[in-house]
Amino acid sequence: MNYDFSEKVSHLQASAIREILKFTADPEVISFAAGNPAPEAFPVETLTELSAEIFAEDPILALQYSVTEGYTPLRDELKKRLEKDGIFDPEADELIITSGAQQANELTAKVMCDEGDTLVCEAPCFIGSLNAFKSYNVDLRGVTLDPDGINLEELEKVLSGGTVKLIYLIPNFQNPTGNTMSLEKRKAVLELAKKYNTVILEDNPYGDLRFAGEDIPTIKSMDNSGNVVYSGTFSKVLAPGIRVGYAVGPKEIIQKIVVCKQVADVHSNIWAQVLAYKFLTKCDMDKHLASLREIYKHKCSLMLDAIEKNFSSKVTCTKPEGGLFIWCTLPSDCDMMSFCSRAVQEYKVALVPGTAFMVNETDKTTSFRVNFSTPTDEQIVKGCEMVGRLSKEMFGE
Ligand SMILES: Cc1ncc(COP(=O)(O)O)c(C=O)c1O
Repeated sequence: MNYDFSEKVSHLQASAIREILKFTADPEVISFAAGNPAPEAFPVETLTELSAEIFAEDPILALQYSVTEGYTPLRDELKKRLEKDGIFDPEADELIITSGAQQANELTAKVMCDEGDTLVCEAPCFIGSLNAFKSYNVDLRGVTLDPDGINLEELEKVLSGGTVKLIYLIPNFQNPTGNTMSLEKRKAVLELAKKYNTVILEDNPYGDLRFAGEDIPTIKSMDNSGNVVYSGTFSKVLAPGIRVGYAVGPKEIIQKIVVCKQVADVHSNIWAQVLAYKFLTKCDMDKHLASLREIYKHKCSLMLDAIEKNFSSKVTCTKPEGGLFIWCTLPSDCDMMSFCSRAVQEYKVALVPGTAFMVNETDKTTSFRVNFSTPTDEQIVKGCEMVGRLSKEMFGE
């Protein structure tokens, strides 16, 4: 049978990095390739108790169909917390619970963009969002990501060249680079969005995982003209398996997202929403977040120290103040793909080639992403020694 796939998905390709990631099934391979929270970060006992409570108190609530907007007590609790941070404006905004931030981002693109519309993202950018945007056949434009955020000159050039429907940004501890956008750039990007009458999608899954430096206000909290949709998630602060995230934004946009979500999956897992609500209201969230920050601070500095000690001095890397990722860059004339292939095949360490995060996998980069949250301390030390050996073999001390 020859299947005739739809126009909108026929150009989507399985990523070339699968070739590298498939080696992670080998138990000998240390994976720096994942993007998962640390296994030790899950509050397993508490979640077990709360789950039992849900079924003891109101099993039908957790098992029955629910409303598309999400479990009302959870929405109200989130609104209250986000209002305190200036992210939710009760006069202008609405909030919908989604199946992870992934769905919040995907549905925002769906309601804002027609096929062929221009959508701007940072280059490099989170692969899950790239694929979601590509599935809508938008004209995706990657704008260079500088250490302090998206390059403003390049951004304005794209904005002034024609209508841009959406600007997708990950201002805190960006995936894949770990970079954080400065306050000045956040303000400037918001001004540009107003000037060119476009919408920013601010994706902030890692904002609560700051383990160094000072918090910077979100772009959403500085917006008073309805130019920003904000997405958040419980994935990195509680558990990604529960698939509970949310989108906050101007009422009109969220109402459209509700209609699209109804078509997509009716509503997010209601049992998981009740679980998230109970965790927020019955547990000490601040204490929990502080413990997560300790875990990630330790693992990040262990990895940065190991990189410093073992890698060739020709390899540079970012120094994130939060999140889960470090972005390493090899000398400009080298073959990064062959470096990553040799790392996994000969040195048994999986890295994610930077091309995976480019708008087109053919765009040139000599960078790769490493993750410090998933491996154990021993794996971080051993893995960096191995990659360090390869880097010195290829680039000298
Ligand atoms: C930048 C970014 N946005 C969104 C997501 C999706 O998160 P969720 O599990 O909430 O769908 C991720 C997950 O890694 C991410 O890195």
